[in-house]
Amino acid sequence: MPQPRVFITRHLPGPALDFLKEKCRLEVWPGELPPPPPELRRQAAISDGILTLLTDAVDRPLFGAASDRLRVVSNMATGYDNIDVKAATEHAVLITRTPGVLSETTADFAFALILVVARRVVEADRYVRHGRWQTWGPETLLGCDVHDATLGIVGMGGIGRQVARRARGFGMRIFYNSRTAKPGLERRYRMQLVDLDRVFAESDIITLHAPLNPETRGMVNQGRLRLMKPSAVLVNTARGPLVDHAALHAALKEGRIAGAALDVTDPEPLPADHPLLSLENVVLTPHIASASIATRSRMAMLAAGQLVEALEGRPPRNVVNPSVIPRWRERMRESGGYGQKSAEMPFISP
Ligand code: DGY
Repeated sequence: MPQPRVFITRHLPGPALDFLKEKCRLEVWPGELPPPPPELRRQAAISDGILTLLTDAVDRPLFGAASDRLRVVSNMATGYDNIDVKAATEHAVLITRTPGVLSETTADFAFALILVVARRVVEADRYVRHGRWQTWGPETLLGCDVHDATLGIVGMGGIGRQVARRARGFGMRIFYNSRTAKPGLERRYRMQLVDLDRVFAESDIITLHAPLNPETRGMVNQGRLRLMKPSAVLVNTARGPLVDHAALHAALKEGRIAGAALDVTDPEPLPADHPLLSLENVVLTPHIASASIATRSRMAMLAAGQLVEALEGRPPRNVVNPSVIPRWRERMRESGGYGQKSAEMPFISP
């Protein structure tokens, strides 16, 4: 049985590439930057599967260019807003993603940003380094308390609930907003489902954990920012386009809110002359909320395992477009598939 050909859009951490090498004929994009779209389309035309990152545009032209042999796109991310799922479904290509394995690590980082922006840690570091610190001052760099504050969590998926778990330890009052109520979690973390405007109006700290889709794009707009308390801070570790950056810049500059911490921006990276970069009360990090050694290895391994499962004819667990499975099965049958052996994934301890 010939081995499937797969294209991986970046070098991956951990054992994922060795695992794939045993199962597939592999081509790994050598660059640090994503492959340019024409190269990705060229690869789609000659591959059975592709492993992509959130920076790869898996769009309609790509599916148009893909040959009949493309069966699966395995995205190494929990979000999949870089993928045109409708076009994939029309072409009977399975799309998979990697939820769950990064929730704890991303929640750790969201909490780090909550503490850093509320207590002005980055500003304080600059204050010391730039020689401005002369003496202990009763009014120097006053921030907001995190313990006992009201936390507003927007989005209550795997990451949102891990943030709530951490917030309990800080004795926080928790509001959340989500498409569906989570009564079990409400009891466990003593939190309350409220509408989005109330999250913005009554929280001291707002943290975003919603997926990017047409409903959520720009949800943090001028109107919502105007609802926030002047002492409140905004944290975004989800997706940049959830926030209207021009409106956020105005709110921060005019002191209508106290601060923001953004691990994600629109675009990524921000251009060097972007006005947000000149503000003291903004903390910016380069989309690293899931970037622990263990978690990135787990994400890579899950993406690799799901790629192999799909190529061996077994629908993986985290399929984004399950409606496509019957047609995808038919395509696998017609082509004879790539063997029935189960993909034994090396164990990576949590
Ligand atoms: C994801 O998985 O969607 C994250 O943004 C990557 O850390």
